[in-house]
Amino acid sequence: MAGEGGDGAMTGSSADERARVAEEQMTDDERFSLLVSVMGVNDVVTVRDERIPEGVPMSAGYVPGVPRLGIPALLMSDASLGVTNPGYREGDTATALPAGIALGASFNPVLARQAGGMVGREARSRGFNVQLAGGVNLARDPRNGRNFEYLSEDPLLSAALAAESINGIQAEGVISTIKHYSLNCNETNRHWLDAIIDPAAHRESDLLAFEIAIERAQPGSVMTGYNKINGDYAGGNSVLIQGVLKGAWDYPGWVMSDWGGTPGWQAALQGLDQESGLQLDVMMWQAEWFTARLRQAYADGDVPKERLSDMVRRILRSMFAIGVDAWGTLPEVDMARHHQIAVETARQGIVLLKNDGALPLATGTAARIAVIGGHAQIGVPTGCGSSAVVPPGGFAEVIKVGGPGIMGVGRNLYLLPSSPLAELRKLLPAAQIEFDPGMNPAESALMAARCDIAIVFAVKLDSEGFDDPDLSLPWGQDAVIEAVAAANPETVVVLETGNPVVMPWRDRVRAIVEAWYPGQAGGQAIAEILTGAVNPSGRLPVTFPADLAQTPRPDLPGLGTPWGAAVTIGYTEGAEVGYRWFAQQHQQPLYAFGYGLSYTTFDYSDLQVHGSDTITTTFTVTNTGQRAGADVPQLYLTSAAGEERMRLLGFQRVELQPGQSRQVTMTADRRLLARFDGRDGITGNWRIAEGTYRIAVGKSAHHLVLTADTPLRGS
Ligand code: BGC
Repeated sequence: MAGEGGDGAMTGSSADERARVAEEQMTDDERFSLLVSVMGVNDVVTVRDERIPEGVPMSAGYVPGVPRLGIPALLMSDASLGVTNPGYREGDTATALPAGIALGASFNPVLARQAGGMVGREARSRGFNVQLAGGVNLARDPRNGRNFEYLSEDPLLSAALAAESINGIQAEGVISTIKHYSLNCNETNRHWLDAIIDPAAHRESDLLAFEIAIERAQPGSVMTGYNKINGDYAGGNSVLIQGVLKGAWDYPGWVMSDWGGTPGWQAALQGLDQESGLQLDVMMWQAEWFTARLRQAYADGDVPKERLSDMVRRILRSMFAIGVDAWGTLPEVDMARHHQIAVETARQGIVLLKNDGALPLATGTAARIAVIGGHAQIGVPTGCGSSAVVPPGGFAEVIKVGGPGIMGVGRNLYLLPSSPLAELRKLLPAAQIEFDPGMNPAESALMAARCDIAIVFAVKLDSEGFDDPDLSLPWGQDAVIEAVAAANPETVVVLETGNPVVMPWRDRVRAIVEAWYPGQAGGQAIAEILTGAVNPSGRLPVTFPADLAQTPRPDLPGLGTPWGAAVTIGYTEGAEVGYRWFAQQHQQPLYAFGYGLSYTTFDYSDLQVHGSDTITTTFTVTNTGQRAGADVPQLYLTSAAGEERMRLLGFQRVELQPGQSRQVTMTADRRLLARFDGRDGITGNWRIAEGTYRIAVGKSAHHLVLTADTPLRGS
């Protein structure tokens, strides 16, 4: 784990050595003190825990330091989309990035790195040295309430972006986690959810995302999930922690549980190094595990001294490797620059799904425009749960929504203060823009009928702790869109959702834009896309199914059962997640993975393929239209040694002026060409079958433009 440039960062071997020396000098009290984090006071934990000293900024987790050995306390904050504050610190706000799925849609690791750097600087300026970021779970199910926080359905895309986000954070001298290890892919009764998967298929999908991201970014810590995997809780899953993570991958950092996700003190023997947010374990399990209980087990000889030392050394090693013990001066926090990162991420993440020529709107237009629904007069929504960031100036509005279970109290529609209506008025000064709330289809239709153009904003609230019941828009918004489209054929729909939705009105509207949760500058970015000030370049990081019948689980197990019900989900699609499933089943989705339109056009030519141990491909991308724009050509494997197999092998975001061409070269990670042959998912190898491999360069997983065959040696 070579340091990524934080002050005092050091090579892995010297961090190991320092950790060994420091740990040897510790008392057992000091050792045990590092093994638990205590949560600050917020809306859920209302009593201040006396283990947090006065003056320490409240956050998700506090671990005391050992000052006599120069070891600082660990102060942990959420998450990937900015530094959160769910009630911990009066009035503290931070830059609110777009959702992870929007970053996923940018297909842009450079942007991920900038976003990570921004999060790292804002964390460090508050004294937080552990950022609970790096959410990399794959979007296996379009109903997962946390997909907005994650990046995509593809292991390579997710890993490439997560790695750069983590690198950005750790370059600021702040430890980043990667989470939630593993298969935390649904929220329904997540504490009682047993995710069943074939172990080899797991290696080829969700675990591959973790594996590649860990290789590229060396996150200081891995956070386990709440769920079980193949019968064992993630926090105490020795197959995944000891076998795969610390064994097969030789991961040197520490493994922390999720908050309330430590299943027992025995988890220490199964590889868990730290119990997180232990007040939540008291709520979930009526016990703190790694305090008195673990000490008793140690005293009884049930926990070997070597294991205790190993737990402590892993924590220290990451602290030294990333340099949290050697912070120099605090970084400059340029909030204006950080705002620009939020703007740029929103711009690059917005996906134009349909355009019958209605967009872009002419900037000089004097048209009458009806802006309808989605609270567009106030701001843009953000996803709900531990990743929600309070933006500078605070939320524009918090609409309480509620729901069953302990997560219900925090389920709100948060609106960030970047109003699409206000931003459209700025960019279309000659237009006559009116607003209708989208409350009643008939009322909305009346305004649409008297205008030249109608733009309907539709929101969907996705939240940690809840899965969506289906793929429809809530609050009767489909009926509003239908009524508006019937009243005015010039209807444009802007979706602000954390997941795919179905669009029964698709054929009756002229244009559709997916803006996700676009962050604190979301209204600006949406207005820029609608008016052509910015040429859309986002591509779908998840497949939009035509309906749930096309997905691996039309009925989601456990949906509708009360909080606390045990749920088993068989992820029988194995490694064939998302577009891979659609290819295997020969199904046509509503919109494919990788799909997205532009106001210009692109062409691909001159494909050359070279196969040896892996596949290297070169081709040319040309902007054949009239506007500058960015394309995201994608390289897919479509068959391997005679077997149909769809895998994203590479992608690159390319910015081109009209008429400009660029040659692009991509080399496949061999694991994407291979199968994992170990039945236990731990021991085993990546095997490439000898034969002919077919690759394709495409505009999406369903629009393949150039194809070629190449032989590969078996290995
Ligand atoms: C979430 C984690 C988060 C933690 C601390 C949990 O509810 O699952 O992602 O880091 O809370 O806030």
